Amino acid sequence: MARIIGGIGTTHVPSIGKAIAEGLQSDPYWSPFFRGFDYVHGWLAREKPDVAVVFSNDHGLNFFLDKLPTFAVGAANEYRNEDEGWGIPVSKPAAGDADLSWHLINQLVGDGFDMTICQEMLIDHAITIPMSLMWPGKAAWPVKIVPISINTVQHPLPSLTRCLNLGRSVGRALDAYDKDIKVIVVGTGGLSHQLDGERAGFINKEFDLLCMDKLVNNPDELTRYSIPEFIEQAGAQGVEFLNWMAMRGALTGKVSEAHRNYHIPISNTAAATMVLENVPVTAKAHGCTSGKEADCCGTCVNSKITPAKKPEQIPA
Ligand code: DHB
Ligand code: FE
Repeated sequence: MARIIGGIGTTHVPSIGKAIAEGLQSDPYWSPFFRGFDYVHGWLAREKPDVAVVFSNDHGLNFFLDKLPTFAVGAANEYRNEDEGWGIPVSKPAAGDADLSWHLINQLVGDGFDMTICQEMLIDHAITIPMSLMWPGKAAWPVKIVPISINTVQHPLPSLTRCLNLGRSVGRALDAYDKDIKVIVVGTGGLSHQLDGERAGFINKEFDLLCMDKLVNNPDELTRYSIPEFIEQAGAQGVEFLNWMAMRGALTGKVSEAHRNYHIPISNTAAATMVLENVPVTAKAHGCTSGKEADCCGTCVNSKITPAKKPEQIPA
């Protein structure tokens, strides 16, 4: 059985790639941000995951406005990066785990998520920057990845509920996977930011902190926000938080916050880093009566996808 050891939320601002290339990690502008990854490095060195399932949004390298899937998943054994025009070095490729991808695809499609299946997929800064932050250095990254792309660009976007449930479907598939591997789940982008229009430069610290707090213990509460309401609070590109919602949904066990760093600004963005630990919950602990302890999380009533709730009011 695959073991989901935890989730990481991280920004993916391209200029981080330039800072890495120029060795500016200790520069006064950059150090409060890069220092936030010291904990992450220690945690990853201790936990040694085999695979990272990465939820992110493509920024035009694979998909453009003419053809933009709501949800797409890579099913390849290698993912290359190409020049996106940010003036940062083209990244090394990431190794993929196509077998795991197909396992996830079967569960996702079975659960009603009509995924676009990509046997070829480029990875953009939304994956290469987080990978370089999590595993700095020149050698190959020590995990295989499964990239899952969520449309945060062209409206209509999927709801927060839908993305949380997408993650839950992935989590259930991982719990039912028969290979003995350790998996982390990553959500990239955010937090609040807006790159264009009248509100360019918009950042909302209070709302970011609310989102990070709720993400740990009560992510369902965040589903009360419609996409327009969320964008009003977080900025047009702050909606990249959908990737964090999916990451949280995939944590099927008992979740606790191990680490958080929040720093304003990195480029135009409130830069946040979070580590959530996931301790698998046994059948007994969550009251499962299926009698199938070993595959409880794939079959019992507690693992069902929760429907959207419409609470009365939006918290301030
Ligand atoms: C920036 C932020 C992003 O999320 C992105 O994809 C590109 C640029 C920025 O703040 O510069
Ligand atoms: Fe982005």
